[in-house]
Amino acid sequence: MKSNRRAVSSKLIKTRILLQHSELRKYVPSTYRLTRGRLQVMLEQYGMLYLKPDKGSLGIGVMRVEKRGRTFKYQYGVHSYTFPSFDAMFRSLQRRTGSRCYLIQKGIHLLKFEGRPFDFRVMVQRNPSGKWETTGMAARVAHPHKVVTNGSQGGTIYPAEDLITPIAGAERTVRLLQKMDRLARWTGAQFRNTYPAMNELGLDIAIDRKLVPWILEVNTRPDPCPFTKLEDKESIRKIISYAEGYGRKYNLVCSKAERAPIQETTGILKNAQTPQRL
Ligand SMILES: Nc1ncnc2c1ncn2[C@@H]1O[C@H](COP(=O)(O)OP(=O)(O)O)[C@@H](O)[C@H]1O
Ligand SMILES: [Mg+2]
Repeated sequence: MKSNRRAVSSKLIKTRILLQHSELRKYVPSTYRLTRGRLQVMLEQYGMLYLKPDKGSLGIGVMRVEKRGRTFKYQYGVHSYTFPSFDAMFRSLQRRTGSRCYLIQKGIHLLKFEGRPFDFRVMVQRNPSGKWETTGMAARVAHPHKVVTNGSQGGTIYPAEDLITPIAGAERTVRLLQKMDRLARWTGAQFRNTYPAMNELGLDIAIDRKLVPWILEVNTRPDPCPFTKLEDKESIRKIISYAEGYGRKYNLVCSKAERAPIQETTGILKNAQTPQRL
């Protein structure tokens, strides 16, 4: 395997790597392999969970499961399914998961923009002097009827600070962006301990309603496409140039995610102080 082609597909293995870091582990939602017993216990504990294939990508097969009072429900794609008992729901979930290895993760209640949940893609790369540097941050707003924010599932890309500032205020936004930057750099260093050939990572980070960040997933072969959708081309230029430094060339035919409407991205920050770019 070429050194810059390193990809680790198992989400459970990647989660374990994060949990070995004393700081990063605080930002990883509780994650386990899916079993009937574990699903039942975690539903009682958290009320809302995400189920995802251990070796999945692009939001495919990802489901949101909830217990509301005595009712059980889950959402997959744009459809929602309701059940009168845990057993009935579990049988239906089993038909969907089949023999694939799935994991359960505590569900994070994402921040919302115009009623649609959003999270962040943070790109971190080794710069020409070999240090991990955050080169891009973008917010991804879910398709109006979906519970995943992936561009391939109809998500829309916005500048990260444009969506956090109206919720958190300018100062808190700067601190949150700095925190996501720190988490990304620590994750880079932590993954490189295990995989010495690692040069780039893409973190999926959620911010919950208490403004706490959570690392939902680490992508070891990150897609630069979200950053081509930003008006500001500084990130994508840097991403491409650092990648050239370690011999990675991207396919930049990017049609998946939607670009945010221009009047919205420029309008939101009109009265707010622009936070410093990372
Ligand atoms: N624990 C979670 N809480 C809230 N949303 C989640 C959670 N896990 C995943 N999601 C949503 O589902 C999307 C896809 O999940 P992810 O773990 O990134 O898998 P994939 O490899 O398919 O992208 C995330 O970007 C996020 O929008
Ligand atoms: Mg993802």
